[in-house]
Amino acid sequence: MHDPAAVRLVEITLWFWIGQAVGAFARLGIADAFGDQHRTVDDLAARTDCEPQGLLRLLRSLTGVGVIREVSPGLFALGELGQHLRTDHPQSMRDLAVLQSEPWMWRVFEQLPHAVSTGATPIKNVLGTDYYWNWLHQQPEERRVFDAGMVSVAKALQIPTALSYDYRDVHRIVDVGGGLGQVLTAILTANPHIGGTLFDQPSTVADAQRALADAGLADRCSVEGGDMFQAVPDGSDTYLLSFVLMDWDDEHAVQLLSNVAAVLPAHGRVLVLDCLADHDTDTGPSGHPFHMGRTVDLFQMCMGSARVRTRAEFEDLYARAGLRLQALHLPQAPVTLMQLAPA
Ligand SMILES: C[S@@+](CC[C@H](N)C(=O)[O-])C[C@H]1O[C@@H](n2cnc3c(N)ncnc32)[C@H](O)[C@@H]1O
Repeated sequence: MHDPAAVRLVEITLWFWIGQAVGAFARLGIADAFGDQHRTVDDLAARTDCEPQGLLRLLRSLTGVGVIREVSPGLFALGELGQHLRTDHPQSMRDLAVLQSEPWMWRVFEQLPHAVSTGATPIKNVLGTDYYWNWLHQQPEERRVFDAGMVSVAKALQIPTALSYDYRDVHRIVDVGGGLGQVLTAILTANPHIGGTLFDQPSTVADAQRALADAGLADRCSVEGGDMFQAVPDGSDTYLLSFVLMDWDDEHAVQLLSNVAAVLPAHGRVLVLDCLADHDTDTGPSGHPFHMGRTVDLFQMCMGSARVRTRAEFEDLYARAGLRLQALHLPQAPVTLMQLAPA
């Protein structure tokens, strides 16, 4: 008889292959080639410029995980997860799948055992930098892939948490490290009384400006490029830090929070969207047991000196920057919202 735990571990270790299969499926644009149709392998191969036997094997590998359905022998359709790999799906995860199969990601993660046994920082060994942002800043193509991947992540994780907050008393938001403006766009679209400023590195803001214009927000949202460790734009009542503190060690995080505190009015608030390391592992919104914070922490261990923090560790950072935690929303969700006020 099979030992269920042993088989489960075989499956867990093979998820690496499935992740790469999903990445290949996304990169090759196969979900888009399906459109709303059932298709044969030859049809799909012609549409995606693939070799039919290889494509058949890729499709079959993905039938077991909900990406593909084999409707009848040789005839395939997108499963529910496959629909989410189309570029035109409102909750498209295609760009995240591409990002997770980037060669530099594998190369850094290869060094996880070395990081755990020695405390070394993999990204330093592999890419010669202390923080992945310092490297991405010099790599326009990898940077573009990363920014697009973050838009996918935000659709699934940050935006649902951000939209659970009551913005009635908010007038203007500065989104610090806002990427392409994905979270700010969702908040402004749902709250037409709010104006915004997207603040990010100069290399990102030109793309962000286009994305905000495409969302019809050019009139309500300005864009500013700069270094958040030097200063952040003033003149707002609300500052948003979404998936930003998790990328930096305490020294950087306190510097950034202090820069925000320096321009925060007495009645102002800071909204931090981040993962928590200390809630219990539970069944998340996907219906599968998964601890988002502790999993993202592996990424941080490989990509720099940052870590996913506990509530107490966040409170310590806030106190050091002259801020205090006022309220914590959705503590059990994959992403939590912390509301801060001047101390
Ligand atoms: C993980 S992404 C989060 C993007 C977005 N806030 C979200 O939730 O999807 C971190 C962002 O911080 C920005 N960033 C990194 N270093 C920065 C710096 N020194 N000044 C301004 N932005 C910076 C990056 O360009 C990136 O867009």
